Amino acid sequence: MTAVQFLTVDQVRAVQRDFGTPVLVYDEATLVRQAREALGFPNAFGLTVRYAMKALPSGAILRLLHSLGLHIDASSGFEVLRAIRAGIPPEYIQLTAQELPADLDELVTAGIEFNACSLNQLAAYGRGFPGTALGVRINPGLGSGHNNRTNVGGPSSSFGIWHTYIPEVLETCAAHGLRVTRVHTHIGSGGNPDVWMKCARLSLDAAAQFPDVTTLNLGGGFKVARMPDETGVDVHEIGAVVRDSLEDFAEACGRKLRLEIEPGSFIVANAGALVAGVMDVVDTGAAGYRFIKIDAGMTDVLRPAIYGAQHPITLVPATDGERPEHEYLVVGHCCESGDVLTPAPGNPEGLLPRTLPEARLGDAVVIGGAGAYCSAMSCKNYNSFPEAPEVLLRENGDMQLIRERQTLEHMLENELLI
Ligand code: LLP
Repeated sequence: MTAVQFLTVDQVRAVQRDFGTPVLVYDEATLVRQAREALGFPNAFGLTVRYAMKALPSGAILRLLHSLGLHIDASSGFEVLRAIRAGIPPEYIQLTAQELPADLDELVTAGIEFNACSLNQLAAYGRGFPGTALGVRINPGLGSGHNNRTNVGGPSSSFGIWHTYIPEVLETCAAHGLRVTRVHTHIGSGGNPDVWMKCARLSLDAAAQFPDVTTLNLGGGFKVARMPDETGVDVHEIGAVVRDSLEDFAEACGRKLRLEIEPGSFIVANAGALVAGVMDVVDTGAAGYRFIKIDAGMTDVLRPAIYGAQHPITLVPATDGERPEHEYLVVGHCCESGDVLTPAPGNPEGLLPRTLPEARLGDAVVIGGAGAYCSAMSCKNYNSFPEAPEVLLRENGDMQLIRERQTLEHMLENELLI
């Protein structure tokens, strides 16, 4: 065994020794490569790449991606404030939220871009900021996702304004003198690229109904290959189709639209790995299963437990030498039968053992593809386990701590004893 994801075996052991487990490690080289790839997305009349910070909102990561030229899509007022505190100027931040922040007025006055995601949000914005420009998020009528939890377009999705209500959008805008300069759609994560491209065309149909539109934002959702047998989306291939559609639109409507995309997973998913420790090995007899219990789990990587998501899992033995292989289920440290890292694909209720070298206490287990929606989306503090620290593997090989391990004091900070 030479390398595990972006880490060498020696680096895995060094991380385990120097930071303790569990720990999330991010790879600067992968982040830079993916950001550049996204910035190379084909476009006809200009491109803005907004990093969907919900995927991994740590300040050091936001700062790094911003330094490479990425803007930000924030999904709550709190995310906006987090990005500002990381040093991102407000004019680089767009808010696309389900819940309007209480301090929306201050955020808009500071210079953020607002994307109205419902007719009520649009009216509220219009009352506060009449005569200004904004974006609207439209549900174009179809969606795409790796499963029904990640599909956010079509009739079963509450995200965005249903496309047949565009006349109502125009009416509200007229009432408040608002100009819709950005039409936004995001239909899901990790889905079918054909549906994504079809959505791009439907989004242009929606854009054609807005006389002031200058920008088309097609959201994120580019499928990422985390497992060796998966194929990720070819952004150049889908980008070329989008570019042609924008050119056709310019010819038909006389308007040259700037393109925006909002990748989250595409930028960070494969730039992250969770390094955990084997803290127990148990089995349920000859007809049962062998289990590797790690000192992490749904508190750090929740995707397998809720989506049946597949992440690469590598056992890095603490000692060199040959080991026999066995079929294992890998489970987390929570007292919860659903804390499983080896579910059946797309079926969190099912189990699919993996073949791994014989596990012994003190070995490391590396969960790959853990950059997106892992530290950001976990059962934080369940069973009172602290948040894992985050480390950035710099391009020069240095390991830099970017988030400390949470302490019990942090966890109890806002509790009041009676
Ligand atoms: N833009 C908007 C408005 C979004 O809601 C999202 C993700 C993105 C962009 C980025 O999508 P991405 O490129 O990361 O697929 N937690 C799930 C995915 C749901 C994300 C929700 N919105 C996961 O673990 O795969």
